[in-house]
Amino acid sequence: MRSDLERIRQAALADLERCEEGAALEEIRVRYLGRKGELTAVLRGMREVPEAERPAIGELVNTIKAEVEERIDAIRRRLEDVRLAMSLAEERLDVTLPGIRVPHGHLHPLAQVLDEVVGIFVEMGFGVEEGPEIEDDYHNFEALNIPRDHPARDMHDTFFVTDDRVLRTHTSPVQIRVMETRQPPLRVIAPGAVFRQGDDDATHSPTFHQVEGFLVDRAITFGDLKGVLSEFLRRFFGPETRVRFRPSFFPFTEPSAEVDIGCVMCAASGKQADGAPCRVCKRSGWLEILGSGLIDPNVFHFVGYDPELFSGFAFGLGVERLAMLKHGIDDIRLFYENDLRFLRQF
Ligand code: FA5
Repeated sequence: MRSDLERIRQAALADLERCEEGAALEEIRVRYLGRKGELTAVLRGMREVPEAERPAIGELVNTIKAEVEERIDAIRRRLEDVRLAMSLAEERLDVTLPGIRVPHGHLHPLAQVLDEVVGIFVEMGFGVEEGPEIEDDYHNFEALNIPRDHPARDMHDTFFVTDDRVLRTHTSPVQIRVMETRQPPLRVIAPGAVFRQGDDDATHSPTFHQVEGFLVDRAITFGDLKGVLSEFLRRFFGPETRVRFRPSFFPFTEPSAEVDIGCVMCAASGKQADGAPCRVCKRSGWLEILGSGLIDPNVFHFVGYDPELFSGFAFGLGVERLAMLKHGIDDIRLFYENDLRFLRQF
């Protein structure tokens, strides 16, 4: 019996000697100390041991059990220490190292200008509406008092999607869409992209952006239009801005005016520093930024408003033009080339 126990002890210690990971350690514990383990089996066989020897054998079993348990605990602690040291080494973080900069983007300069324009009109009490970029003939032309075959259609070099559908050539169709569904008083702006075939030079792009604005109420006059636009331009460009209202024609407004502001590229002189004509204002010293006027009574007929009761004004301003003047940019194409050296300046 004693020699059996000594053999078990030797075997357990030898197994523990070779043990290098937690799962194997548990296996050894079960093999020797578990309910069906070798030492437990010896204790179960005590009945066959002569009674006189039992206390001594019992004590020996307990001593061996304690010794094996102690070794197992020691090895478990050692394995735990090794695991901890490894994970500390792996996860070590030097908080004094310089960080990794996450590059952030920013809004495109046109988006910034658009936000600013919208912000100013919202402060003046205008609400924001949107309309579709693919528009039908009726909303883009017909209801704006531009019938088929009217020469005014030549002012818009239209991209046609089908015979009846176009890429909208201006944001004015949103006037019709809003007036069709709502009653005055109205104070609305409608920002968005518009499209014109063939426009492509330093101040014209085939895709550009407009902000439409319109106000309909009782007894609205041209004075209201001038007041609102002058206030907007003063807030956007600063109180010193030179502004002129120039008589013009739009089929959907009567009377109509275009608004110019002093060219910032040549300080309104019409000439570049080298004496050549200014590329942006083409020598005039002025740059057109918007079209406007009092809403034509014919337009009110299309949307079912009574022109005897209501009057209103409307305007459509070019966002790219505003951005060029604000930032002194002399070529509209820079907004669309996406050259990061240009974009990062904003
Ligand atoms: C219109 O589009 C009218 N719908 C504006 C309007 C609205 C008048 C409401 C009356 C009442 P116009 O074609 O002039 O008008 O364009 C308005 C503005 O858009 C211009 O003043 C100009 O700033 C800008 N613009 C016109 N064409 C281009 C282009 N190809 N590229 C960049 N900006 C342009």
